[in-house]
Amino acid sequence: MYSFLPLIILIATSICKGQHEKKCDVFPKDQFIEVGSNASIECQSCGHGKIFWTLNNERVDESFSNTISSSRTSLTLRNLTHPSATLQCHSVDTDLVLGGTTIKTYSKPSKISCTWHYENQIKGVGVPEMLTCSWEHQMNSPMKINYTVLCAGENCSSDVKNCTFPEMADKIVENISVTVRAKTAAWEVSSDPQIFNPYHILKIAPPKLKVTATSNHLSVTWNRSPLENISKSRCEVKCKAANERTPEWVLNKTLNPEDSRNVTITKVESCAYYNISVRCALDQAPWSDWSQEMILTKLNKSNVKLHLWRKVAEPGKNGVRKVYLMWTEIPSTCQGTFTYTIKLGVNHTDTLCGNSTCDVDVNQDAYRLNLTVFHNEALLEEESVYVPAIGESLPQVTDMKASSLDGVVLVRWKAPLEPVSGYMIDWTHNGNQYYWKQSKYTNITLFDLLHKKPYNITVTPLFDDKTGHGTQALQICSRVGDPGKFTNIDIHAKDKSATVSWKLDSQECSGVVVNYTVFYRAMEGPLINVTVDHTEPKISLTDLNPETEYSVYVEAIALTGTTKSSETSFNTKKFDPTFITALGVCGSIIILVVLSLGLCCAIQWKKFKEKPVPNPSLSSVALWPPPNHQKGTSSFQPFSNPSESYCERIFMEDTERTSTPQLAIGCNPHLNPASDQREEHAQQAITPAADIQDERPVESVETLCDSPGESTALLCSDKPLNPYRCQISVETPPSRNTKQSKHLLPEKQQEKTVTVYVTLDMFEQGQCRLEK
Ligand SMILES: *[C@@H]1O[C@H](CO)[C@@H](O)[C@H](O)[C@H]1NC(C)=O
Ligand SMILES: *[C@@H]1O[C@H](CO)[C@@H](O)[C@H](O)[C@H]1NC(C)=O
Ligand SMILES: *[C@@H]1O[C@H](CO)[C@@H](O)[C@H](O)[C@H]1NC(C)=O
Ligand SMILES: *[C@@H]1O[C@H](CO)[C@@H](O)[C@H](O)[C@H]1NC(C)=O
Ligand SMILES: *[C@@H]1O[C@H](CO)[C@@H](O)[C@H](O)[C@H]1NC(C)=O
Ligand SMILES: *[C@@H]1O[C@H](CO)[C@@H](O)[C@H](O)[C@H]1NC(C)=O
Ligand SMILES: *[C@@H]1O[C@H](CO)[C@@H](O)[C@H](O)[C@H]1NC(C)=O
Ligand SMILES: *[C@@H]1O[C@H](CO)[C@@H](O)[C@H](O)[C@H]1NC(C)=O
Ligand SMILES: *[C@@H]1O[C@H](CO)[C@@H](O)[C@H](O)[C@H]1NC(C)=O
Ligand SMILES: *[C@@H]1O[C@H](CO)[C@@H](O)[C@H](O)[C@H]1NC(C)=O
Ligand SMILES: *[C@@H]1O[C@H](CO)[C@@H](O)[C@H](O)[C@H]1NC(C)=O
Ligand SMILES: *[C@@H]1O[C@H](CO)[C@@H](O)[C@H](O)[C@H]1NC(C)=O
Repeated sequence: MYSFLPLIILIATSICKGQHEKKCDVFPKDQFIEVGSNASIECQSCGHGKIFWTLNNERVDESFSNTISSSRTSLTLRNLTHPSATLQCHSVDTDLVLGGTTIKTYSKPSKISCTWHYENQIKGVGVPEMLTCSWEHQMNSPMKINYTVLCAGENCSSDVKNCTFPEMADKIVENISVTVRAKTAAWEVSSDPQIFNPYHILKIAPPKLKVTATSNHLSVTWNRSPLENISKSRCEVKCKAANERTPEWVLNKTLNPEDSRNVTITKVESCAYYNISVRCALDQAPWSDWSQEMILTKLNKSNVKLHLWRKVAEPGKNGVRKVYLMWTEIPSTCQGTFTYTIKLGVNHTDTLCGNSTCDVDVNQDAYRLNLTVFHNEALLEEESVYVPAIGESLPQVTDMKASSLDGVVLVRWKAPLEPVSGYMIDWTHNGNQYYWKQSKYTNITLFDLLHKKPYNITVTPLFDDKTGHGTQALQICSRVGDPGKFTNIDIHAKDKSATVSWKLDSQECSGVVVNYTVFYRAMEGPLINVTVDHTEPKISLTDLNPETEYSVYVEAIALTGTTKSSETSFNTKKFDPTFITALGVCGSIIILVVLSLGLCCAIQWKKFKEKPVPNPSLSSVALWPPPNHQKGTSSFQPFSNPSESYCERIFMEDTERTSTPQLAIGCNPHLNPASDQREEHAQQAITPAADIQDERPVESVETLCDSPGESTALLCSDKPLNPYRCQISVETPPSRNTKQSKHLLPEKQQEKTVTVYVTLDMFEQGQCRLEK
């Protein structure tokens, strides 16, 4: 078997040699080089002739390549900084890729920094034990890297970019050199060594703090680390109140080893929590961690300012005035019990008050009200305020003006003639809660006001022993908003127009409307806007399409904002409603006219049909009047005129009931001597005749009234030969016949000639009846 071995090697070698000659490729494969170093690669062109190189698909200049032989070309890349480079060898003739390789770069760890510190920062004593180093390292590959830090003969391994030596307390005595080595499966690189002065990397333990609060300041003391004996050190002190409004206070202090480590913080608020933090460092060394302490400051009696003020109400019915007293409360964080009392005068009992307000009643006299505050039953503070008597003549400020801008109100006024010690400005938005502030100047700016609230602001001048009268500015809004809310929108639509009216409910501090803009549109149509003046909250929209749905909304525009109403829809009518109304009215009138005409015709027809037929049972025998009488009666007709006949009718109505029984008598010309021939005869006779015939006196009268001309014509002139008529015509009320002519019927009958007697009385009589 061993005899075959050389043969196998020979065959293998020959195969390999043959392949090697034929194979086109690039060597070496997958290199790693340090960033910035040079790389050399070679291409075997295996008889493809001339070749060219590409680096990350970009052609490399000819000058970098070097032809070794007809089939071997080398490329030298200097100062390679690409994280990763792909190199390919191409045949110039065929443009085939003959082979390729990648070159990846790596860098050295750099920017090493080290800290010499305690394992337990707080309890650290003596020399620190630990050394922690960290560095930066650019890694272009996802390969796992092992780091090793070398320092003072010790090493420390890590797979992240920091490492801690746990026991270095006695190793660090002088300057130390630190090197970081990075190692992967493919490459290994070491950083440049870095030299450190141990005292420049020494992080001392945070100082131990002691804070004490006295009545008006805070004392902060901290210990000195033994390490600080070596060099100068520095400390930073921070003081921050727990409330957000007080700014932070910072102090940097450079300290010599012998300096005392203490700071006094003055100007602290009473009864407030403060956070004190201190950190220290050796010169050039890193800061220690912070030491922190929280403390509550004490009540500073000298700083207690009650700023006592009062509002005096108008006197009530019994002359009692309510005085509302207010003062700055002593913070509730202050320890101990506080009692507040108000003294009105020696002969008044004291009033025990709440923590910041008090109400007392006074009469019309002037008062000086004293507020006393006891702290744990010891007098803490006393302040007094003057309440003027009713009608007391006192100076006051004039020309007071308030203006607001962005929620801030500026108030100015003119000083009174008398010299003042200051001004008290108070303001309220609800009459219950007051804010007040003192000013030396004749102006003040009020901040922190509630949004959109009307404020009443009063300025009162202060004198050494008194106060003047307050002057109130016109109520002012902290901020003026939009114009309010739309309450309802009324729309009256016609066919081509619509009237839109609206109501705006203005609220507290709402802006004054400058004008309104009405937006409307048909469904899918463009939005149209019309602006109207603020004086008239309505508009007529014209040029609308009939029978279309529109939507409309209104915007009230003020200089301070805009209010938009909700959108409302309406439909236009098919026809103009007024046209329809007119049409209806005309139609009704026409119908009425037609109806009344028809009725008239019907009545006339009925009348014509029901022509009166005399009742023979009521007839009596009488003389047939001679033809000349008839003639005479007829001849009276010309005297009959419409006015007369009206008169007659009324007369007849009047007499119809009383005269009817007389008919029988009256019908007999003999029995009734008064039946003289008068021009009235025929006409007077009409009524009784009608009464008898119809037995409906009223109706007959009406009928006569309706057509007077006709009745006279029918009954008296056209039918003179009707015996019943004439029979009745004889009837005449006796009273009316007193001045009648002396012509008796028989005489008349005998007369062949027509004699007409006319007296003025006849007409007068008629007239009288009419008046009646
Ligand atoms: C290498 O290239 C970098 C940037 O490309 C340059 O800053 C550096 O000076 C170069 N180094 C050498 C040795 O040419
Ligand atoms: C060390 O590095 C890790 C990972 O970056 C980080 O989480 C850790 O806080 C570092 N430790 C120190 C002491 O810097
Ligand atoms: C890195 O260190 C671990 C153990 O600390 C070892 O198992 C691993 O092989 C190392 N890797 C390299 C690339 O040196
Ligand atoms: C105090 O020193 C720190 C760090 O040096 C610095 O950031 C800060 O501004 C300094 N403060 C003052 C008030 O000087
Ligand atoms: C610090 O303390 C020393 C002695 O204890 C004292 O004399 C000095 O006034 C204090 N300094 C401050 C700023 O409080
Ligand atoms: C007054 O202050 C005390 C604590 O300082 C508090 O307990 C009490 O409720 C306050 N009284 C009023 C009326 O605010
Ligand atoms: C009020 O206090 C003043 C001094 O501030 C004092 O003169 C006056 O007597 C006091 N009045 C009363 C009623 O205590
Ligand atoms: C207080 O009362 C006493 C006796 O009643 C009286 O003499 C005195 O004038 C009064 N004082 C005041 C200030 O009213
Ligand atoms: C503000 O002053 C006006 C006018 O004097 C008064 O009518 C109104 O009630 C006052 N409002 C408040 C909240 O005091
Ligand atoms: C308020 O008055 C003071 C003193 O007269 C003046 O300096 C200041 O400018 C005034 N402020 C305003 C806002 O007018
Ligand atoms: C009102 O319509 C006109 C054009 O018709 C347009 O220029 C204007 O911007 C509109 N106004 C508002 C407030 O939309
Ligand atoms: C509406 O008010 C604005 C603001 O004052 C003004 O500029 C505009 O001309 C007014 N428009 C009409 C139509 O009055």
